[in-house]
Amino acid sequence: MKGDFKKISQAALQNPAAFWSDAAQDVHWISPPEKVLDDARPPFYRWFTGGLINGCYNAVDCHVEAGHGKRPAIIYDSAITGSKQTITYGELQDRVARMAGVLQAHDIGYGDRVIIYMPMIPEALVSMLACARIGAIHSVVFGGFASAELAKRIDDATPKMIITASCGLEPGRVVEYKPLVDGAIALSAHKVSHVVLYQRPECKGEMMSQRDLDWDAEMAAAQPADIVPVKSEDPAYILYTSGTTGTPKGVVRPTAGHIVALKWSMQNIFNCKTGDIYWAASDVGWVVGHSYIVYAPLFAGCTTVLFEGKPVGTPDASTFWRVISEHKVRTMFTAPTAIRAIKKEDPEGKLIQQFDLSHFKFQFLAGERCDPDTLHWCEDKLGVPTIDHWWQTETGWPIAANCIGIELLAVKAGSSGPAVPSWDVQVLDEDGHPAASGEIGSIAVKLPMPPGTVPTLWQNDERFVDSYMSAFPGYYETGDAGYIDEDGYIFVMSRTDDIINVAGHRLSTGGMEEVLAGHKDVAECAVIGINDALKGQVPLGFIVLKSGVSRAGEDIITEIVAKVRAEIGPVAAFKQAVIVSHLPKTRSGKILRATMQKIVNGEEYLVPATIDDPVILDEIKSTLEAARML
Ligand code: COA
Ligand code: AMP
Repeated sequence: MKGDFKKISQAALQNPAAFWSDAAQDVHWISPPEKVLDDARPPFYRWFTGGLINGCYNAVDCHVEAGHGKRPAIIYDSAITGSKQTITYGELQDRVARMAGVLQAHDIGYGDRVIIYMPMIPEALVSMLACARIGAIHSVVFGGFASAELAKRIDDATPKMIITASCGLEPGRVVEYKPLVDGAIALSAHKVSHVVLYQRPECKGEMMSQRDLDWDAEMAAAQPADIVPVKSEDPAYILYTSGTTGTPKGVVRPTAGHIVALKWSMQNIFNCKTGDIYWAASDVGWVVGHSYIVYAPLFAGCTTVLFEGKPVGTPDASTFWRVISEHKVRTMFTAPTAIRAIKKEDPEGKLIQQFDLSHFKFQFLAGERCDPDTLHWCEDKLGVPTIDHWWQTETGWPIAANCIGIELLAVKAGSSGPAVPSWDVQVLDEDGHPAASGEIGSIAVKLPMPPGTVPTLWQNDERFVDSYMSAFPGYYETGDAGYIDEDGYIFVMSRTDDIINVAGHRLSTGGMEEVLAGHKDVAECAVIGINDALKGQVPLGFIVLKSGVSRAGEDIITEIVAKVRAEIGPVAAFKQAVIVSHLPKTRSGKILRATMQKIVNGEEYLVPATIDDPVILDEIKSTLEAARML
């Protein structure tokens, strides 16, 4: 869709149904939709109603049928084990059809849920696509979450099966997954019928009983399964994401909208076409992994790179450039924190020069705010356009981006670009009135949102409306704050809620507070995000002990750090806490987290007029000074 970005945006806003009706011609329907946009029941909008479609067919089979069975679909590269594997579309079709047969053999069918708790190995993608093939709904859980978090997702999604691997591999550490899965099943009220276990050579998981099935044995015995048509609005998957409490939100992804929008985004946002080699260095447990490691590149007939490793330490800060060079990657997507990690070890970018990056054309960044230094470093050292773009688990694909497939616009550091066509993004003040350009406010999207976006939360319409649709009626509340400049560029500055972004990972401080509050010595607590040069933000806990507790504060903090790691998981990166006598509060009892955050970050702050006791702020400062945090 090369053309004038402004004109295309205007046309999409004026008539979204016509815009998406055109885009829908580019995907494979089993039966085309009867209606493009059903707006009869706001705020519950439905796209492409009456249509029948299949996500696996659009990702895999259609390419084989078009004669591209020998083209690489997945290039797997593990920088941790050194293993590499290229899987063609034909081979992928075979593996996925057999895994779908395994699911059917164990009574999994249309609408059933399957949890996938796996590291970055091809079997994770095969499992996701196998669910899509037979209309089962997958819910992938990131491997850095502990048993209790997995149990919450088991109880909410009520899966019949969990597919897992014996271990994940972190630098210098084998993370045994099977005990974590067994622990989660023990904790959850809902009981799964089966666990399929893929044994990795680095560690063998224990088979518990007839409940547990061996991946290899099951695949060897499987009958390939055919494609099962699903309705446009049927969920392709549920992906749990952090909300303001410890109960994660089950974001539902509607199948047809996800296929149409992701395929459109590959061409128009990422400028990728069939046969291109595309790499998103994220994890299948996050939305970036769902959309841009698995589905979008495969819908577009690209080759997707599946990378197991880290930007640094596996083995060093040259790994990303080695992968780009070796696999002839054209477009790469990562989080700014990964670039900051590389930049810290190789500030001059000397390691880049060892590699032939002649195939590399575009660097995309998202997942957290991109600081201008990181953006400029990429531009200077890599010599390719570097595109920041903004989106969320809920939206599934970018809200704001420099759509280089349409027209490469000027890059403005600090901005994730203008709204993508068909996104009506507005900044609203506290009363819900549009803010003037340049003025900071809540970023909201006027309804209806484009296809592929969250239509509701899994079996929880009420929470969906409360969380996103009630603050500004007629708008989706993104939870982000920022401004739009006079050229329409969007600057996303911070969250308006209790979510923090740690190394590109979205985490709930409310969830961490629930864990802290569960410690026997803790009377009250607050967790805030503090600025961190590498990870963007890291959590810091403030703890008030119960009266009479005389144990050493250091011991209590050590226990609390271990408790968060055990109950949420290492990904929470909760490593610091301080003990204070009181928390600063308003007279009505609300904890002044924003003021505490400003103090820790060394920012200017006003003592709120509503504060109950201003002296507590001085105590907080001296405690932080004593702990060398100020
Ligand atoms: N399974 C088990 N543990 C995991 C895990 C997984 N899949 N992923 C991370 N962890 C662990 C890490 O080993 C670490 O444990 P530790 O406390 O024992 O060191 C902890 O969780 C925190 O991980 P992380 O915040 O990622 O820190 P890190 O020091 O391991 O790596 C970066 C820092 C910047 C290199 C890394 O975060 C990174 O590459 N980030 C890119 C972000 C990204 O891809 N985001 C997705 C959205 S685009
Ligand atoms: P997640 O749902 O995990 O993808 O996290 C989404 C959140 O990450 C957004 O609501 C933002 O707060 C933040 N985010 C993602 N991309 C960007 C970006 N390009 N700029 C600023 N913040 C971003």
